[in-house]
Amino acid sequence: MIPNQRSLFNIPDDVAYMNCAYLSPLMRLVVEAGDWGLRRKVRPWEIEVKDFWEEPNRARRLFAALINADPEGVAVVPSASYGMATAALNLPLRGGETVLVLADQFPSNVTHWTDLAAANGATLVEVARPVDSDWTPAILEAINAGTGIVALPNCHWTDGTLIDLVAVGARCREVGAALALDITQSAGAMAFDVGAVKPDFLVAAGYKWLMAPYSVGFLWVASQHRAGKTLELGFIARAEHPRFKHLSNYDMPFEVGGHRFDVGESGNFALMPAACAAMKQLVEWGPAAVQETLAAYTAPIADWARQRGLMVADDRLRAGHFVGIRFPGGLPERAVQRLATRNVFVSQRSDSLRITPHLYNTEADRARLLDGIAALLEAPGQEVA
Ligand SMILES: Cc1ncc(COP(=O)(O)O)c(C=O)c1O
Repeated sequence: MIPNQRSLFNIPDDVAYMNCAYLSPLMRLVVEAGDWGLRRKVRPWEIEVKDFWEEPNRARRLFAALINADPEGVAVVPSASYGMATAALNLPLRGGETVLVLADQFPSNVTHWTDLAAANGATLVEVARPVDSDWTPAILEAINAGTGIVALPNCHWTDGTLIDLVAVGARCREVGAALALDITQSAGAMAFDVGAVKPDFLVAAGYKWLMAPYSVGFLWVASQHRAGKTLELGFIARAEHPRFKHLSNYDMPFEVGGHRFDVGESGNFALMPAACAAMKQLVEWGPAAVQETLAAYTAPIADWARQRGLMVADDRLRAGHFVGIRFPGGLPERAVQRLATRNVFVSQRSDSLRITPHLYNTEADRARLLDGIAALLEAPGQEVA
């Protein structure tokens, strides 16, 4: 178990921020690293050519450590959508095949597949939400010889319900389907093993559980795709770190590896040091320990809700860093806004009240949250669908 880490953040005592799945707060040391990075360009004459690669390469190593992958396969991208667009550019899909996604899946891992399917005479298939929240059997059953691509998260963004990606990966290999993953809602907060799941492409936006600034994310590419097509044709992704004086050698080949897929200007002087500082801290904590600590924190919230007749997925079927609460008659009117007036910050996603704490949350925060939900139950107001 990791002891409480609130002192690393700048969160007032009376704020119960439980919305990490929306935007994580930045740690003080992350802001300092970003400030240092931004200020470097105040004195550009001190910036050396190697500095364009050093921080992104450090970020590759740190992200790779968090997902147990090789850093050579990691690309620096600005968003999950950018990573998925790269995956869609490289995964073949034949007419009559299907692309499998979940009901209500986050759009960054749906819309590229809708377009790719339409362009190739293929179809998008949504796995319906199982009544018992156990996605894995439903997904395994839906994958068949006609499945071309399986595009999934690690846990559902609305309520944290889990998908067993090791089992799904094995099934994909059995039928010859490609696997594209968006682990934005778990990377950094839950252990992940690329070697066990064996995806083709994997993306994570950085501004949630990776605790990085907005507009930084990572894409990991399996070795068989590392010479694939890139969205951009930028010079920064070319082989043999170009010396700036030779840039008009337009035939310079692209790197083979994650670096090939980097967004232009991946050596972002402000964002990269900040993202590295955040991921360094996560590596020190260890995603498995973060998960264990947050699971212990959320279990009493889930129990409390169930005792009051509210619906929460079984603990073995939900990620420990999420509690998605559903109300039998629908969410009380303006639930999120009413909680916010008590300085309790959570989200509504679909019909789920999504509570996503982190290591900065205290027992006082939890009491504040439960008092707020109790008040909603006492005066639910007009029910909304
Ligand atoms: C599952 C998931 N993926 C990705 C994102 C962010 O996507 P993007 O980086 O494309 O803006 C979110 C944001 O809520 C998300 O919940």
